[in-house]
Amino acid sequence: MSGMGEIILDGKSYKLPVLVGTEKEKAVDITKLRQDSGYITLDSGYGNTGACKSAITFIDGDLGILRYRGIPIEELADKSDFVETSYLLIYGQLPNRTQREEFRNLLSGHAMIHEGMIKFFDGYPTTAHPMAILSAMVCSLSSYYPEHLDPNDPTQVNHLVPRLLSKMRTIAAYSYKKSKGQPVIYPKSDLDYCSNFLRMMFATPAEEYQIDPDMVKALNVLLILHADHEQNCSTSTVRLVGSSDANLFASIAAGICALWGPKHGGANQEVVEMLELIEKEKVPVKEIVRRAKDKNSGFRLMGFGHRVYKNFDPRAKVIKTYCDKLLAKKGIKDPLLDIAKELEEAALSDDFFKERKLYPNVDFYSGVIYRAMGIPTDMFTVMFALGRLPGWIAHWIEMHRDGDGRIGRPRQVYVGDTQRPYIPMDQRK
Ligand code: MLT
Repeated sequence: MSGMGEIILDGKSYKLPVLVGTEKEKAVDITKLRQDSGYITLDSGYGNTGACKSAITFIDGDLGILRYRGIPIEELADKSDFVETSYLLIYGQLPNRTQREEFRNLLSGHAMIHEGMIKFFDGYPTTAHPMAILSAMVCSLSSYYPEHLDPNDPTQVNHLVPRLLSKMRTIAAYSYKKSKGQPVIYPKSDLDYCSNFLRMMFATPAEEYQIDPDMVKALNVLLILHADHEQNCSTSTVRLVGSSDANLFASIAAGICALWGPKHGGANQEVVEMLELIEKEKVPVKEIVRRAKDKNSGFRLMGFGHRVYKNFDPRAKVIKTYCDKLLAKKGIKDPLLDIAKELEEAALSDDFFKERKLYPNVDFYSGVIYRAMGIPTDMFTVMFALGRLPGWIAHWIEMHRDGDGRIGRPRQVYVGDTQRPYIPMDQRK
């Protein structure tokens, strides 16, 4: 705590504690406001309301800063890999050599799912969205660990963490294979997380997948950049569901469902579908910009702007750099990248976008890299979920370890009918 604030309500003064975070963010603690004054606060969308104190991720929306456990994402993207970054987010520190090998071996050793679960896929139509499958399968994983579902027993939770991280990746690859009518490709315990995923996605019984180190690096970068983002919609969902003492699988399945929404993780799929339409209809970028500025056009420019970042999304900068490098190195010419760059240039030089702080966010370029890997559009949000999983787990653990143990239960301001009598049917109009 750092001092006291004051609020005057109905002429009466109420003192409220002020907190200052390690990055000098300030908050008024209203925990006792209703008890002392009878008032609650109202903040639709929680744009001004902190749900918790957290030590996992720091964002400065004005300066475009994003750090995991204090380490800038730019450094992690260049020097780390997704498994090491997952360890950092979940356990709070970069692993030493022994810890990193043990964690990697745990993930590689627990990559398979129960044979019975593979049969679940056969019940879905090939057109089923992979996010529907992912959320159902992750929730179903709880059936195979009945002895490890107590969220308040760190030993049980620690038993689940590497298994969930590894098996969700396998489930994602299997959902893709089933949608293609192909047999699943079992993981190989001698492959790292990303190589295993790409092989499970693209190998077939008839043809081995040639692991490309550039694609593996690009996938590690993408997953690192998506690994956490403090109290976003899906992470807040994981925390809220977890606060009821729902098990880890159920809480993560809820987060997957929240991420599916086009306003959240589904945006990367929407961006590529938008770019594909622009390319197919050969719409000039100038016309796209005009439509984006005309609220009556019914056109929404996807992948631009962000609730928190006020000048640029640091993740978009890193992804764009890697996108350029990967496509150039592979000699891949993707017209969608050219369109994306033209759109960005047009938007960043147009006052309409600058005044509204509309610039590319993390979703704008990520799909172009996924396309370069051969990952289909309807799998893009699944890739976002794979990346965000360690962040969801880290917040879920932090909530149980450092929270006050209370179930999350917001208040409301009731604006409905005041008391009125029941009207018998024959008296209704
Ligand atoms: C995210 O990474 O979760 C998105 O940028 C959305 C957000 O942070 O609100």
